[in-house]
Order: sequence, then structure tokens, then C-alpha cells
Amino acid sequence: MPGKDVKIVGFLCNWCAYAGADMAGMARMEQPAGMRIIRVPCSGRVDPLLVLKAFQEGADGVLVSGCHPGDCHYGSGNYLARRRLELLGRMLPALGIEPERFHYTWVSASEGARWAEIVNTFTEAIKDVDEGS
Ligand code: FES
Repeated sequence: MPGKDVKIVGFLCNWCAYAGADMAGMARMEQPAGMRIIRVPCSGRVDPLLVLKAFQEGADGVLVSGCHPGDCHYGSGNYLARRRLELLGRMLPALGIEPERFHYTWVSASEGARWAEIVNTFTEAIKDVDEGS
């Protein structure tokens, strides 16, 4: 709907993505106001059921972000996350959720600008889905 605030739940790993988002905030980069961040120890900790729960509770979009492949502080958590989240993304249409409403990505602690670009692009994609374009 035009003018509606887009509610996004972001599951961010503590070590990389959360620090990147924090850097974007500290640098006062423009970010959507409807972003709600849940800090998790590692992207591998994000159970796909948590993503579905966020949608069930009214999220317009869910974003999961962790360390770049090879940089996970627990070794292979992001590889586990990638396998799970890829399957989840393919399942969403069968559950009646547009795939554009879900995204997972990797952001390092020094990539504040990249984080801001990802969340702004994601928010615009959700708005397009809501507007039916
Ligand atoms: Fe960041 Fe594992 S610690 S993805």
C-alpha cells in the first residue's frame, strides 16, 4: 500500500552484519525506519521457523545477514545458514509468501554503506510487491 510503513525483521549475526548495520547508523546513512533488528550469535543460529514466525506476526519482509563465506566466527555457521535459507526461499511461494519479501546476504563489520544499500533496496522491492508492480 502506498505510504504504508514497511515492517522488516532483520536477523543479524553479532560479529559482522550487526556491526555493519551499527556502522551505517553511526555514519548516519539513510535507512528505513521500519527495520527491526534481532541480533543473533551467528546466521547459522537462524532457524527457518523463526523467519516464518516473523511473517506470521506481520512482518512485510525478513532479512537475514551474517559474515561473508569463510569469515564466520564459528567456522561454518553461514554455510549452514545458506543451505537452510536457500531452501526456505524456494518454499515461500508454496506458503503464499512472495519470494521478494525474503532475502539473505552477507555483510562485514566494515560494510556499513553496503548494509544501507541492501536494506534500502530490499525495502523498495517490498514496496513494489505491495503496490503490485
Ligand atoms: Fe557471523 Fe557466523 S558468526 S555468520
